[in-house]
Amino acid sequence: MTMQKNINTEILNQDMKSLRKACYFLNKNELVSFPTETVYGLGASAISNIGVAKIFSVKGRPKYNPLIIHIANKQDADKWAQVPKEAELLIESFWPGPLTLVLNRKKPFTALSTLVTGNLETIAIRVPLHPTARALIKEFGSPLAAPSANISGRISPTRAKDVLVNMDGKISALIKGDDCSIGLESTIVSFANNEPVLLRPGGLPEEIIEEKLGRPLLKSTQVLSNQRKIIAPGMMESHYAPNCNLKLNQVNSQTNELFLGFGDMPKNAIGLNLSLTRNLKEAATNFFATLTDIDTMAELMRYKTVCVAPIPNLGLGVAINDRLKRAAIKKES
Ligand code: TXA
Ligand code: MG
Repeated sequence: MTMQKNINTEILNQDMKSLRKACYFLNKNELVSFPTETVYGLGASAISNIGVAKIFSVKGRPKYNPLIIHIANKQDADKWAQVPKEAELLIESFWPGPLTLVLNRKKPFTALSTLVTGNLETIAIRVPLHPTARALIKEFGSPLAAPSANISGRISPTRAKDVLVNMDGKISALIKGDDCSIGLESTIVSFANNEPVLLRPGGLPEEIIEEKLGRPLLKSTQVLSNQRKIIAPGMMESHYAPNCNLKLNQVNSQTNELFLGFGDMPKNAIGLNLSLTRNLKEAATNFFATLTDIDTMAELMRYKTVCVAPIPNLGLGVAINDRLKRAAIKKES
């Protein structure tokens, strides 16, 4: 990987003057991190090959892993993509919000950077709910490519300070907002083959989508073997990785281990808690920040292992368990 030169990272507020400054950087093909309701995004103009190339370079992201394009409204989706009836229904119900749709692109291919879509025939799009993200897209007047603002494979940031730990000196600006309210990335549903397929569980629970559609979502594992193109190329086995080892579904920890709780902490356990009241929404909001903090704690205390309480596998718990499973997988290097 080529080394990025260290640049000055400007910290911006969320007022219009700051957003105009952010647009100035984006127009120069530079990177700006901004808050969304799910996680902080690392934004570049989606029509700028240079800007998008910088995202891949700064994140150390594999080039085959395309990015989500953030748009202002449904009309933008119609410009870039074919929207089947059921997708339309989901758009009406859940946009703006934490739902990304993978749709077939309109042909002839539009001005979008080929890097942003991995030159696939599909495009991943969403309309974020966060007022700053929306105001930024509106002011910029063109779609923004934005993956989560972490180094590829590491923990996604839901706090401005976590963005800075990874991105200070590498991006032109960070728009500093509050902590992200949902705390998990958007749920991704593909309509590439007309049938709705869940590619990534996320901030919008699948039960809610299924209720709206009146039928179950197919799972990507069900279609993987015969339709290669439908996979979310970025669903890497190891992801969201802390430095410590995670032991999942634990009811206790040893004296030289930390405990990440959900509900009452086991007797004598030391650590942090996702939600003392076993509230999945609260656990989702806290998830990446708490994982970051307990990893730091483990490092400072020279503990190698964090034991994690079982999380119920329903609603937002499905997305939390998905992240935990990937975070627990040992990295190759
Ligand atoms: O909540 C979110 O979605 C956040 C915020 C910043 O909006 N963004 C985010 O982006 O999580 P990222 O790049 O970390 O994840 C994008 C995912 C990857 O798994 C990628 O493989 C998948 O979307 N993806 C993108 N384009 C796709 C396509 N055409 N077909 C299938 N999967 C696609
Ligand atoms: Mg990500």
